[in-house]
Amino acid sequence: MIELRNVSKLFGQTRAVDAISLSVQTGELCVLIGTSGCGKSTTLRMINRLIAHSAGSIRIDGRDIEQIDPQQLRRGIGYAIQNTGLFPHWTVARNIAVVPRLLGWPAARIRRRVEELLHLLDLAPAEFAAKYPSQLSGGQAQRVGVARALAGDPDILLMDEPFGALDPITRESLQNELLRIQAQLRKTIVFVTHDMDEALKLANRIVVMDKGRIVQQDSPQALLAKPANAFVENLLGGQERGLKQAGLLRVATLMQVLTTAAAPLAGPRIKATDNLRQALSLMLWHRCSSLPVVDEQGRQVGVLRLDALLDRPR
Ligand SMILES: Nc1ncnc2c1ncn2[C@@H]1O[C@H](COP(=O)(O)OP(=O)(O)O)[C@@H](O)[C@H]1O
Ligand SMILES: [Mg+2]
Repeated sequence: MIELRNVSKLFGQTRAVDAISLSVQTGELCVLIGTSGCGKSTTLRMINRLIAHSAGSIRIDGRDIEQIDPQQLRRGIGYAIQNTGLFPHWTVARNIAVVPRLLGWPAARIRRRVEELLHLLDLAPAEFAAKYPSQLSGGQAQRVGVARALAGDPDILLMDEPFGALDPITRESLQNELLRIQAQLRKTIVFVTHDMDEALKLANRIVVMDKGRIVQQDSPQALLAKPANAFVENLLGGQERGLKQAGLLRVATLMQVLTTAAAPLAGPRIKATDNLRQALSLMLWHRCSSLPVVDEQGRQVGVLRLDALLDRPR
């Protein structure tokens, strides 16, 4: 869907992006990560031609982007950024409708689309459609930003640290929303962050950048198992690696399944859909080496033992 080949960007003498090659498959959520100034935003902005690349080629669906009119290109690519870029004197509904209006949709279709997107982002239309950006919390504004990026139903979504300015709880809920939306809509997403936990949680593939170059690109599991060098290892959190890896696996994958259904339990227990990091934390807190595992209704479906975590092959 998106293919960069030997792409570079020079700002005067500064080589912001240095001969990177990257292909993002349809439906993939690809996360670019790296320290500040490593070229993540520049890479993203070259894909929708907000910045012209200096060398190499960028193709979307096999077409060289230089052959596509920039306005037309951008209408087919949703773009969401950290400070949302909402127009302050426009209502939420009007802000979301920017691209559909440019596309010349009839008013009734635009209205339906805005309503649908507000629902999708968990904002009640009756409450939010007529509000102005200054009347929104940071999390709500960010939801509107994402709705606007999705408005024209683009196949591609570019997101530049969209949740970077949010508190941890709001941030986590928006990450979950994004995963839900992605499971439903299957967009091709390139997502920029400098937060490794966010990258591990969201990505199908993580692309680690340093000084304008790609240092490693792999699945979250593969990256944790085999960081290419000390830089990547450090970015992964050094000693925290074990916990981050546990965070990627669900309790259900390691629990011992009960053969007969048991009654609801009181006391410490973990959900089959929770991850092994959460299970480990509960064991530490309750000073126990096994936990009953329950389903969404609270019925016991298995047991998780600490031994199973320790015996797990790498
Ligand atoms: N418009 C610009 N003019 C000059 N230098 C720029 C411009 N935009 C970015 N840079 C430089 O390019 C490098 C990469 O920037 P950027 O892509 O924004 O990094 P990141 O998003 O990873 O923090 C930095 O050294 C930055 O100072
Ligand atoms: Mg940036």
